[in-house]
Amino acid sequence: MRTIIVYYSLEGNTAFTAEKLGGLLGAELLRLEPEKEYPSSGMKKFFWGGKSAVMGEEPPLKPYVFRGEDWDRIILGFPVWAGTVTPPMRTFVKAQGGELAGKPVAAFACQSGAGGEKALKKLAVLLGRESLEAELVLNDPKTRPQPENEEKLAGFVRQLS
Ligand SMILES: Cc1cc2nc3c(=O)[nH]c(=O)nc-3n(C[C@H](O)[C@H](O)[C@H](O)COP(=O)(O)O)c2cc1C
Repeated sequence: MRTIIVYYSLEGNTAFTAEKLGGLLGAELLRLEPEKEYPSSGMKKFFWGGKSAVMGEEPPLKPYVFRGEDWDRIILGFPVWAGTVTPPMRTFVKAQGGELAGKPVAAFACQSGAGGEKALKKLAVLLGRESLEAELVLNDPKTRPQPENEEKLAGFVRQLS
């Protein structure tokens, strides 16, 4: 299966997970970058990122190359912001809906404590799907590593057909 992992990461946890999964699956990685990156420290981080997520913003992204026909499976990864999908991932899904049509899409979310499952459901809605091929939620896997994360990653890989 030709697999690509498309992800956004502000502070590295989602990038860390994407790289691990990429190694397990032999997948390519595509990191989404907003034209204007969100602040990554202090109260500004929560204020601007949270506001953008709550408002359902779709910030413009730096140019990237993605062609659905190149891939048999797409895995999307994002940090949970205000209990929902991170805005740059929203931009990608809205822009690439046509390219994703008919392809298996799995997804993972990184969170600090809560909201991941709900955010994955919202992602499925954005994709116009009943469900995703596989789902995974991890708690800050880079900054607060837990031994059980390895098993969770393996479980996610097993869910992929
Ligand atoms: C603006 C903002 C909003 C957040 N909202 C939530 C949230 O609703 N629930 C949660 O568990 N974590 C929340 N977090 C924490 C991140 O989802 C979590 O730390 C994640 O692992 C960060 O991934 P990253 O390092 O790839 O950016 C929020 C972080 C930011 C910056």
